[in-house]
Amino acid sequence: MSDNIEKLSHHFPVNTDVPPELNFSPLEQRVYLSNGKLHEWKGALAEVFSPVYIERNGELKPLRLGSYPSMDGTTSLEVLESARSAYNLGRGEWPTMRVRDRIERLQNFLVLMKAKRETVVSWLMLEIGKNRPDSENEFDRTVEYIIDTINAVKNLDRQSSDLELHQGIYAQIRRGPLGVVLCMAPYNYPLNETFATLIPALIMGNTVVFRPAKYGVLLIEPLLEAFRVSFPPGVINVIYGEGKETAGTLMESGKVDVLAFIGSSKTANIIKKQHPRPNRLRSVLGLDAKNPAVVMEDADLNVAVSECVNGALAFNGQRCTALKIIFIHRKIADEFMKAFCRKVESLKVGMPWEDVAITPLPEPDKPAYMQALIDDAIAKGASIMNEGGGLQFKSLVNPTVLYPVNHDMRVYHEEQFGPVVPVLAFDDISEPVNYMVESNFGQQVSIFSNNADQIAALVDPLVNQVCRVNINTKSQRGPDVYPFNGRKDSAEGTLSVTDALRVFSIRTMVATRDNEQNRALFTEIMEGRKSHFLSTDFLL
Ligand code: G3H
Repeated sequence: MSDNIEKLSHHFPVNTDVPPELNFSPLEQRVYLSNGKLHEWKGALAEVFSPVYIERNGELKPLRLGSYPSMDGTTSLEVLESARSAYNLGRGEWPTMRVRDRIERLQNFLVLMKAKRETVVSWLMLEIGKNRPDSENEFDRTVEYIIDTINAVKNLDRQSSDLELHQGIYAQIRRGPLGVVLCMAPYNYPLNETFATLIPALIMGNTVVFRPAKYGVLLIEPLLEAFRVSFPPGVINVIYGEGKETAGTLMESGKVDVLAFIGSSKTANIIKKQHPRPNRLRSVLGLDAKNPAVVMEDADLNVAVSECVNGALAFNGQRCTALKIIFIHRKIADEFMKAFCRKVESLKVGMPWEDVAITPLPEPDKPAYMQALIDDAIAKGASIMNEGGGLQFKSLVNPTVLYPVNHDMRVYHEEQFGPVVPVLAFDDISEPVNYMVESNFGQQVSIFSNNADQIAALVDPLVNQVCRVNINTKSQRGPDVYPFNGRKDSAEGTLSVTDALRVFSIRTMVATRDNEQNRALFTEIMEGRKSHFLSTDFLL
């Protein structure tokens, strides 16, 4: 037995070791949601396997989780039609509904969603290998996001509930929907990042076609009925299947008004270009990133080490906001590396339901990609610094700290999105700053220092390279009320509880010249509550 196999294979369960509290049995999903109905899919199916391998009769195989519809282009277009007819070019029940009524539907959905917490959390662990605390956090954070969104919509509505008068023209200005939104999310946050676009899109009056992430598909099934009963037919529709057939076909039809996509810039570019009328398409994109950590010579080492380990390796480094390269001042490089590697070595490896940090990776080709980055870096002069680094077996990849990395290595430039941590020493601060200036990415940076002058001198130029400068703190998206965006290839548009309401809507207004006749007309409409838009009703 090779070293790798001996050290990592025992982490995988034997026979019936998936704990009973996960309540697991394979899910053969045959339905998709369209026009308020769960339609049975009779065509091809896609099989779902867990990154968790199970040993049975001495043979180790990925746990089969079930299957879902692999829909074709024709059916995807039928689903799109249901979203289009629910929107009805802005004249449908949903886009013209009172905000308070839309909120009521969403609140109803929230109650039903909360009841599915345990089921969804189990699927998160089994489908994408996210550990239990992070899976629970993903669910709870999503619930909180919905509650915060409801409050933000109420606020927005209150601010728009009076009339303005300028230069003899009265106006009521509100935000109106944009049309049909195609929502697609990444596998690392298949629930949260889906809902981070889906919910604001819906509440602003758009109708939605949603395609689940590449991994993390079955976890949506327990919510389908809640979607179905909470919203009018066609307002929310769910399609499944291969990207070209589903999303590609919808985009090529030119009938998608907004693309909400969180994933790679390469895929986003392909999808966007498929739309025949680019000027009509709005895009809200969360894309690639390679956030650096910069550890200055006067940094508090304990803080820097713990934030960098967590920032680089939480969920095995599979976060767009992860710290993906670490620059350390040469004067403290040895000390930092020792403490950093000890901390990395203390991370426990195991199954998602155990008390561990490092878990199986859902992308089947990811271990080979990690190995290729490691081999390339070693061939060009880096070493593996931590004990256990470089070991991998099936879907388990031990965290690997590479040092010193340089410009010629792939891992210096590529977004690894996995448990490989490139580290390099710098003598002059211009080195990490130039790295950011020259980078194609522009999401966040983390600076570790206790010197106020030094931090201040770095903050001013760096806020124009990225969109969030973290001081003595790892980079991250949350709290979700803060803006989440990026420069260059890292994003298009800004997401946060309030920003998302803006990106999925447009300011639109009703105006009239100030005279007795028009005042009487407006008063009659408002007092008689004849319009949902032209209204001074105040939402409590
Ligand atoms: O993958 C990108 C996520 O938006 C990161 O979110 O920083 O809360 O893990 P997070």
